[in-house]
Amino acid sequence: MSNETITQAVSERYARAAATGEQICCPTGYNFEDLRTFVPEEVLKVSYGCGTPAGLDTVRAGETVLDIGSGGGIDCFEASRRVGPTGRVVGIDMTDEMLAIARRNAPIAAANLGYASSNVEFRKGMAEAMPVEDGSIDLIISNCVINLAPEKRKVFHEMFRVLRPGGRFTISDIVSEHPVPNYLNHDVEKWGNCLSGALQLGDYVSGMIEAGFLGIHQIRSIPWQEIDGIHFLSITLTGYKLPAAVEPNGVRFATLRGPFSQVVDELGQRYQRGVPQAVNARTVQLLKTPPFEPLFLLSETPLALEPSDARWLAVLPEQVPCVWRGDYAMLTGPFTEVEDDDHHVFRRGSPLEICSKTLKVLESDLYRRHFAMINRAAGEISGSQVACSPTGGCC
Ligand SMILES: C[S@@+](CC[C@H](N)C(=O)[O-])C[C@H]1O[C@@H](n2cnc3c(N)ncnc32)[C@H](O)[C@@H]1O
Repeated sequence: MSNETITQAVSERYARAAATGEQICCPTGYNFEDLRTFVPEEVLKVSYGCGTPAGLDTVRAGETVLDIGSGGGIDCFEASRRVGPTGRVVGIDMTDEMLAIARRNAPIAAANLGYASSNVEFRKGMAEAMPVEDGSIDLIISNCVINLAPEKRKVFHEMFRVLRPGGRFTISDIVSEHPVPNYLNHDVEKWGNCLSGALQLGDYVSGMIEAGFLGIHQIRSIPWQEIDGIHFLSITLTGYKLPAAVEPNGVRFATLRGPFSQVVDELGQRYQRGVPQAVNARTVQLLKTPPFEPLFLLSETPLALEPSDARWLAVLPEQVPCVWRGDYAMLTGPFTEVEDDDHHVFRRGSPLEICSKTLKVLESDLYRRHFAMINRAAGEISGSQVACSPTGGCC
């Protein structure tokens, strides 16, 4: 199938959906009762997202927000409320029928919010060639769209182009745990259902890093569907276009606090917990972004940490036998590789089978935000207990 065929089929699918309001894809997680206070029903009826990228506290007053694949406009209107009347929102979409719904409801949503005029503009355009100026956007959002674009690398490069240095994205999308095979990839119907075009998580994140983004990490992930043994997830990711100029800041060392025993960041730097590591100014910029910041101590002189130090972070498994229940953990970020205290090595985007003991560790507050979980067991598991390792550690 050519890219043109896919794009046309997807656009026809969403034109039809705009007319019928048929159910496609997944629950978003938005509070519709709350949205109903200012978003017209016609918009809510054609909500086809898989997350809540505009509903997170990361949208700040006064910002310029871009929504890629804005559909009927649900995320644009929520962003409009959050940026306030001094902020601006631009939605782009390729489907005329969706644009028509969004445009006719923009003045209604603005009036419901008490704004003198709408701060939302809807433009017709492709995610692969966005009608948006270079460096003009503070925050990019998108809800279940990039999986539908046949040329995702172009989309990631366009995102990087339109963001200002220091800008960021928060995107909800469908990804898979394994590459989608050809027989699904060439199924036009499943493109429109947000399945055939889903990238494997590792490929999705690599495409973003190749475009220039860093600090990519998950806000949320939810298992969605399984087809022929392939698990599809709805994931919300955030990442940064770091400022170009690196300010001298005196910091020359970074010490990993934990909970991992060692990690590798997206610039290829490896850190061992408690051991000070010399870092350059670019790395310091990265480590100051929110997902890294609580995990590191940044210092001008080397600072070693001992396990007895209150700043040392660790979550140890219980010293009991464990059970295999079909659970797999997939590292989502912001690191490319991590190791836990039981010597499990997790690589971003690669599911690793874990036992009940490790599941408990990874579900703790310190670990949870870094992993997406999948269960591959077909039914009930009676699972006999096993002693994982002679030392009482985990398998
Ligand atoms: C699954 S719907 C999501 C719409 C909206 N974000 C929401 O949450 O309701 C996908 C939307 O993206 C648009 N779209 C898909 N691929 C696109 C592309 N390559 N460029 C621009 N728009 C695209 C479709 O027209 C459709 O309106």
